[in-house]
Amino acid sequence: MTLSEFETVADAAAVASQDPESLFEGVDPAALADRVGTPFHAYSAAAIRRRIAELQQALQGLDALVCFAVKANPNRAILTLVADAGLGADIVSGGELRRSLEAGIAPKRIVFSGVGKSEQEIDAALAAGIARFNLESRDELECLDRLARERGVEACAAVRINPDVDAGTHEKISTGRAENKFGVPIDEARCWFAERMRHPNVRLDGLHVHIGSQILDLEPFRRAFARVAAFRRELAAAGHAIASIDVGGGFGVRYRNGESRLDAQAWAGVLREAFADYDGRFVVEPGRWLVAEAGLLLTRVLRVKRGVERDFLVLDAAMNDLARPSLYDAWHEIVPLHGAARAMRRYDVVGPVCETGDTFARDRLLPECAAGDLVAILGTGAYGASMASTYNSRPLAAEVLLDDGRYSIVRRRQSYEEMTAGESAGEDWTTP
Ligand SMILES: Cc1ncc(COP(=O)(O)O)c(C=O)c1O
Repeated sequence: MTLSEFETVADAAAVASQDPESLFEGVDPAALADRVGTPFHAYSAAAIRRRIAELQQALQGLDALVCFAVKANPNRAILTLVADAGLGADIVSGGELRRSLEAGIAPKRIVFSGVGKSEQEIDAALAAGIARFNLESRDELECLDRLARERGVEACAAVRINPDVDAGTHEKISTGRAENKFGVPIDEARCWFAERMRHPNVRLDGLHVHIGSQILDLEPFRRAFARVAAFRRELAAAGHAIASIDVGGGFGVRYRNGESRLDAQAWAGVLREAFADYDGRFVVEPGRWLVAEAGLLLTRVLRVKRGVERDFLVLDAAMNDLARPSLYDAWHEIVPLHGAARAMRRYDVVGPVCETGDTFARDRLLPECAAGDLVAILGTGAYGASMASTYNSRPLAAEVLLDDGRYSIVRRRQSYEEMTAGESAGEDWTTP
C-alpha cells in the first residue's frame, strides 16, 4: 500500500502505524527525517496524479479546462507536476502568476481571480497574456479596460456572480453568501453586460462562480449552478453570448474517519444537468481536492508533558507550519510512526508556539508516545505549507516530494539568515 492508494484516512492511519513507509511511497520516514530534519511537509506525486486523472475522467466529453487553485499549494514542484498533467492555474496574485509561468503553465491556461487585484498585478497579467480575468467589482472592470487600452489589447473577462448560496462550510471559507466580500449580485452583473460597449477593451463573455471551500454536499453546487445557468439563458436571450463558465472549486476532501470526499463524477453530473443547454467552455478551479490528501506533515515529539488535567504531546511542528487547526478548528488525523503496539492514551497535541491556539488536537486517543517519536499529521497537502508563517521566528519547514520509492527536497528548510533577510535595525532614516 502507498499513500496514493489509501481510500480513507482511517485506512492510512491504521496501516501507517504498523508500516510507516506506506505513507511515504516506499521511502523510510526515519531515514528521511534524519536527512531533512523535522518538521517537514511531504507530498505524494502519485496521489496527486491519481486525483487529476479522476477529475479528467469525470469531465470527459466536456470542453473543460481544469485550473489548479495555486493558493492551495504553490510549491514549484507541485505546479510543475500539475502543468505536466495538462492543467492550467487559477491565480489570485502577481506572485502566483510568476510561479505559474515559471512552472511552465501556458498563459492561455491561467485565470486570475480575487477581490483585490492591484493595477500592477492586472498589468503584469495583461503583459503575460493570460486567458481570463474573473472580475469582482465595477471598479476592477474599469481598471482592466483602461490598462488593456494602454497596452492596445483586448482582455477576456468573466463576472464573478455572488449567487447568495450557503455552502454549509466553515464561515471563514464561505464565499458565496450575499454578506461575503466576493463577486457581485446578478442585478449588478446584468448592468455590466447591458453597458458592455462602455468598456471596449474588455471582452465580457464569461461567468464565474465559487461558493466556498471544503464542500462535501452536492446541493449547494446544484443551487449555485442553477442560478448561473438561468442568468446565462437570460443573457443569451438578450444577445450576450457566453463563451466560458468558470464553476470554481471548493470540492471537499476526507479529513477524518466517517467523512466522504466529494465524488467528482457525481459533481460533474450536477454540472452537466445544470448546463445541459450550454455548449461553451467550462473552467474548473479545484485546489484542496487535488492535493490535500496527498500531503502530510512529519514532526517529532519534543516531550510529553504531564499536566494537571491532561497530558500534552509537544511536537516540533506548530501552528506556523500548519495553521488550519488553530484557524478553522480543523481536524487532521495524527499517526505516531513508532510501529510497535503500545497502550492507548489521551493527549492534547500541541506545538511550541506561545499561544493556547497552537493545538493540533484536543483529547485525542493515540498510541502512547515518547520524546523522539515521529508523528505524521495527515491531509496537509493543501493550505498547509501555503499558509505557513515564521511566527515565533520559526523558519519555514522543508517540503519533500515523494515518488515511487524516491524523494526530492522541493523546498529546503529556511535558514535563520533567509528568515531575517531584508530587515534592518532602522539606521537609514530618510524624510519623504
Ligand atoms: C476563486 C477561487 N477558486 C478556487 C478556489 C479553490 O478552492 P478549493 O481549494 O476549496 O478547491 C478558491 C479558494 O479559496 C477560490 O477563491
